[in-house]
Amino acid sequence: MSFFENTRKPVGLGGKIMVAMMNLGHSPVAQWGLQFLNVAPDAKVLDCGCGGGANMKRLLKKCPQGIVKGIDYSPVSVEKSKKVNDAAIAEGRCAVLQGSVADMMFANNWFDAVTAFETVYFWPDLPRCFREVYRVLKVGGTLLICNESNGDTDKDKKWTEIISGMTIYKDAELKTYLEQAGFHDVQIHKKKSWLCIMAWK
Ligand SMILES: C[S@@+](CC[C@H](N)C(=O)[O-])C[C@H]1O[C@@H](n2cnc3c(N)ncnc32)[C@H](O)[C@@H]1O
Repeated sequence: MSFFENTRKPVGLGGKIMVAMMNLGHSPVAQWGLQFLNVAPDAKVLDCGCGGGANMKRLLKKCPQGIVKGIDYSPVSVEKSKKVNDAAIAEGRCAVLQGSVADMMFANNWFDAVTAFETVYFWPDLPRCFREVYRVLKVGGTLLICNESNGDTDKDKKWTEIISGMTIYKDAELKTYLEQAGFHDVQIHKKKSWLCIMAWK
C-alpha cells in the first residue's frame, strides 16, 4: 500500500503521520473555503471526513456558542480529531464519531451546516452520500465542499494514478449530483486549482 493511500483512509503509523500532515498541508485551502461559510455563532455544524480535526477546530472558533460534530470512517482520523479538539469535547460542544458518510447516525434536519474538506473524492457512492448530507441538514442549511484539486487540468491525474478509489470531480459534475440530491442555489468558487462549492437545502 502506498503512503498516499492514507489520504483515502488513514491506517496505522502511516495514517497517523498523514493526518498530522493534512492538518498542516490543507490549512491554506481550508481557510480560503471557510470564508464562504456564513453561520450563526450558535450553529450546529457537521464536518464529514474530518481527518485530523483541524477544520473542526476552525469551525468551533467560527461558532463559539455552537456545536461541531465530526464523522470519519477511519479510527486513526477519529482518534486524532478527538485529541485536537479535546477541550471542546470536554465542554460538551464537540463530538467525533466513527462511521461512513453514506449511512450516518444523525437525526434528520439537525445541522445548520455540513462541511466536506478534501474528502468527496473518496466517497464511494456520491449520490447516496449527498442524499445523506441533505437528510441531516435543516431546511435552509448549507453544504460546503472544498477541494484542492478541481479537475480542470491533467495535472491532477498524478493523484488518481497513485491513490486507488479517488475521483477528482469537476465543478459541473458536483453541481449535477448536488441538484439530483435536492440541493439548490449551487455556488461555485475557484482560486488556482482550488474549488469551493456551496449548496443549500
Ligand atoms: C484527504 S483526508 C481529508 C481530511 C480533512 N477533511 C482535511 O481536509 O484535512 C480524507 C478523509 O475523509 C475520510 N473519508 C473518506 N471517505 C469517507 C466516507 N465515505 N465516510 C467517512 N469518512 C470518509 C478519510 O478517512 C480521511 O480521513
